[in-house]
Amino acid sequence: MKGKYNMRTRIIGTGSCLPEKILTNDELSRMVDTSDEWIKTRTGIENRRIAKEETTYSMGAEAAKEALLQSKTAAEDIDLIIAATSSAEYAFPNTASLIQKEIGADGAACFDVSVACSGFIVALNIADAMIKAGGVKKALVIGTEIMSGQLDWSDRSVCVLFGDGAGAVVLDGNCQHDKGQECNSGKANASGIIDADIHSDGSRGLVLTCGKDTPVNMNGQEVFKFAVKKVPESIQTVLKRNNLTADDIDCYILHQANLRIIESVAKRLKLDIEKFPHNMDKYGNTSAASIPILLAELNREHRIKSGDLLVLSGFGAGLSWGSLLVRL
Ligand code: UT7
Repeated sequence: MKGKYNMRTRIIGTGSCLPEKILTNDELSRMVDTSDEWIKTRTGIENRRIAKEETTYSMGAEAAKEALLQSKTAAEDIDLIIAATSSAEYAFPNTASLIQKEIGADGAACFDVSVACSGFIVALNIADAMIKAGGVKKALVIGTEIMSGQLDWSDRSVCVLFGDGAGAVVLDGNCQHDKGQECNSGKANASGIIDADIHSDGSRGLVLTCGKDTPVNMNGQEVFKFAVKKVPESIQTVLKRNNLTADDIDCYILHQANLRIIESVAKRLKLDIEKFPHNMDKYGNTSAASIPILLAELNREHRIKSGDLLVLSGFGAGLSWGSLLVRL
């Protein structure tokens, strides 16, 4: 029994899907009063992808298929699908169920979580808890967003920031000894999700909103100040609780909202920016999808490897924020 309670939920596959259509800063500067120079220097964003035919569930399904293939997992072996999204086409059915249909994961329970840009972190935390509670062995956690449908394309303060896309991971709660191998899952250096720290501050919720009939509206400076304070605090919390220093982490995978936020977090942790890979230059802010898209990209390019210690951190509307400590 001890092995079960000490077990860790491992990430065994990653995938992503981006729409083909690229919208450049120069193209945007012909639509609103902005410039490539302003967007690049204030945010680090150069391009973003815009969904045309794609839906949140078609992109989510493509990302999931890649993660399943990579992890050699059959769709019918998935017990749970959680989609983190704030831009679903339908209030119901949930996006996870629509992804289930596209991939043929007939045995899975499905639901969505709505925590905006922190959604993927919260969804991973929920899936991990459900696996540890028993009953769920394999899960798909997907971040998928069509932010372009939520924007006022005449509001330069917001429309330049966001993009569309999806990323997915396959989680496995099986102990090694389930496969007749030595059980490693209780050991300190075992692979899997080690710790989570998640928070919300609803009292500041109205600084970043999107309604049924109202586009994304944000007090950018307030959100910026919140992020550069709360993200390092949350990272320090998981480090301290696990007797780690910032240097012990191989790679920090942060929500891709603004390069200046990432630089500030790196500075506060007294770390080189090298430990903070980023891709918002290509995709902009894809909300709940940004962390799994980056994770899949790093995995595909062999920039992260088995045994690496990662911190994943999300932040955004709610206001919400959180970090996960993961050994690959
Ligand atoms: O994913 C959810 C979490 N979201 C975030 O983390 C976003 C956090 N916030 C930010 O990243 C930044 O606050 C922004 C990128 C949104 C804005 O950058 P900023 O350095 O805070 O700019 P600002 O809002 O203070 O605006 C500075 C100036 C203003 O002009 P004045 O008043 O100084 O004349 C704006 O009107 O820049 C102007 N401005 C623009 N100019 C050209 C605002 N948007 C644009 C634009 N192009 N697109």
